[in-house]
Amino acid sequence: MGSKVIAVVNQKGGVGKTTTVLNLGVSLAYMAQDVLVVDLDSQANLTSGLGFQSNTSYDVSDVILDPSLVNSTLTSTKVELVDLLPSSNNLVGIELLLKDLDEREYRLKQALHRIGHMYKYVLIDCPPSLGLATINALCAADFVMIPMIPEYYALEGLSMLSQTVRRVKETQNPGLDILGIVFTMYDPRLQLTQAIVKEVGNFFPGLTWDTVVPRNVRLAEAPSFSQPIHLYAPKSQGTQSYMDMGREFLVRMGGHHG
Ligand SMILES: Nc1ncnc2c1ncn2[C@@H]1O[C@H](COP(=O)(O)OP(=O)(O)OP(=O)(O)O)[C@@H](O)[C@H]1O
Ligand SMILES: [Mg+2]
Repeated sequence: MGSKVIAVVNQKGGVGKTTTVLNLGVSLAYMAQDVLVVDLDSQANLTSGLGFQSNTSYDVSDVILDPSLVNSTLTSTKVELVDLLPSSNNLVGIELLLKDLDEREYRLKQALHRIGHMYKYVLIDCPPSLGLATINALCAADFVMIPMIPEYYALEGLSMLSQTVRRVKETQNPGLDILGIVFTMYDPRLQLTQAIVKEVGNFFPGLTWDTVVPRNVRLAEAPSFSQPIHLYAPKSQGTQSYMDMGREFLVRMGGHHG
């Protein structure tokens, strides 16, 4: 069977998409799963967070333009069982370039199709927008995961995000499902937190995960040392939360296999 592809999406910036792709990916590898993490953001935070310089060889922008380059773009990382499809700022102009190409929404899907046998899970780090890059991720994905900070402004973007997922499901990718909402930078001392969590739970019944990731300074520090939290601060709350998330991920994926 091919790999399961999970797009980590939220058009709001700074909600923990990149942190989640990196550290959930490493957690799954620690649980003996073969993982590919895909950097689909021109900011290339996932790429640099794993210690890679952008612009050194092929990157995901080359793959979008020519999906047959995917094999020569895969990079192994310092974490066993985790490979990376790197990004660079070459991705900045990609939406304009794609406009004139055939099947512009399915470029990433075509690329991942070529390597589907190599990984159990593919986690895609999306940029903070619902543009063509994110649409490529949604068209390639089996599931959507939405990291969210439980604060008032989180609710604003929710309906546009779920409408976008629904539209892609209806018109381009009928197999697409939401795997869940994970709360990040969670602060149980804030009274508002519980109210927001409840409201999001009403909006997405059954889809808010038990695992929450508290604000943890180690998680914020780790990228500047080019390390996942597991290597930078193995005993930290951040590591524990992301290992919990890995376990819940496998349970929820298991439910989807029926
Ligand atoms: N649980 C956490 N506690 C503290 N800091 C965190 C936590 N999660 C992420 N961060 C930090 O918050 C910032 C934003 O996180 P991250 O880059 O993962 O968000 P993002 O959604 O990918 O952002 P963007 O939309 O810009 O791509 C980063 O500096 C990251 O290190
Ligand atoms: Mg990011």
